[in-house]
Amino acid sequence: MIKTIEAINELRETVQAWHNQGLKVGFVPTMGNLHAGHLQLVDKAKQIADKVIVSIFVNPLQFGVNEDFGRYPRTFDADCEKLTQHGADVVFFPSVDTMYPNGMAKQTIVEVPEELTNLLCGASRPGHFAGVATVVTKLLNLVQPDYAIFGEKDYQQLLVIKRLVADLCLPIEIVAAPICREPDQLAMSSRNQYLTPEQRQIAPQLFVCLQWIAQQLQEGSRDFERWSVEAQRQLNALGFKSDYVEIRRAADLQVPTENDKELVILVAAFLGQTRLIDNMQLSL
Ligand code: PAF
Repeated sequence: MIKTIEAINELRETVQAWHNQGLKVGFVPTMGNLHAGHLQLVDKAKQIADKVIVSIFVNPLQFGVNEDFGRYPRTFDADCEKLTQHGADVVFFPSVDTMYPNGMAKQTIVEVPEELTNLLCGASRPGHFAGVATVVTKLLNLVQPDYAIFGEKDYQQLLVIKRLVADLCLPIEIVAAPICREPDQLAMSSRNQYLTPEQRQIAPQLFVCLQWIAQQLQEGSRDFERWSVEAQRQLNALGFKSDYVEIRRAADLQVPTENDKELVILVAAFLGQTRLIDNMQLSL
């Protein structure tokens, strides 16, 4: 069974010993409840590094007051079995007190500039990316990996993390891994299990919506606003409550000009209380 580490000093000693032997360390930060998408990140880490650490920490700092922190699925034993099967070396499983010893209110906060954090998911979830940036900075400083692997499903999060690593000069390579999908193309997410059977049937329409917009763009249209409005109307008609559908520049999430070629279509929508996100990158 995979080795579990809860204490910071043991984590540091373990990684230091690996680095002393010249081994490269890959790190996969998670909030647990691992599915095939997470395990793909672990597999990627195994390919590029000699040792793999996975953290499991449901980070209270990145949840809003009315969000699902309390009911977020915690499945530590099952997660450890999956990590063992995929050959991860250590699971770092800190407590809230270990991560925030002075309490969250007194924690130094990492704020990535607003141009990346106050739009899209950041507009709907105020403070979310400060919570993510803060915990990821702490985890990267604790683990001190050579590589950290993040999924493209959380595309905005990936850009926020790349930005903080660059701006804070952290000597870590951020590696992106593609979205993992169910057979019906629903992007894998721990939140999918909140869906009722009826909602689960509708959920893959998010991907259909992305494909439909991609087709309009590939056929030459640059009427970004029109497709965004039309797609939201379609989603709402299907039973979603659309949060946003946006076509943005892939590099910085700003509104594209007609000449931009590298784009990303991003969608966030509620089915009942469950907020789902998905995206599709597009090279025109
Ligand atoms: O993507 C996630 O699961 C979380 O946002 C992360 C990166 C583990 C930080 O808590």
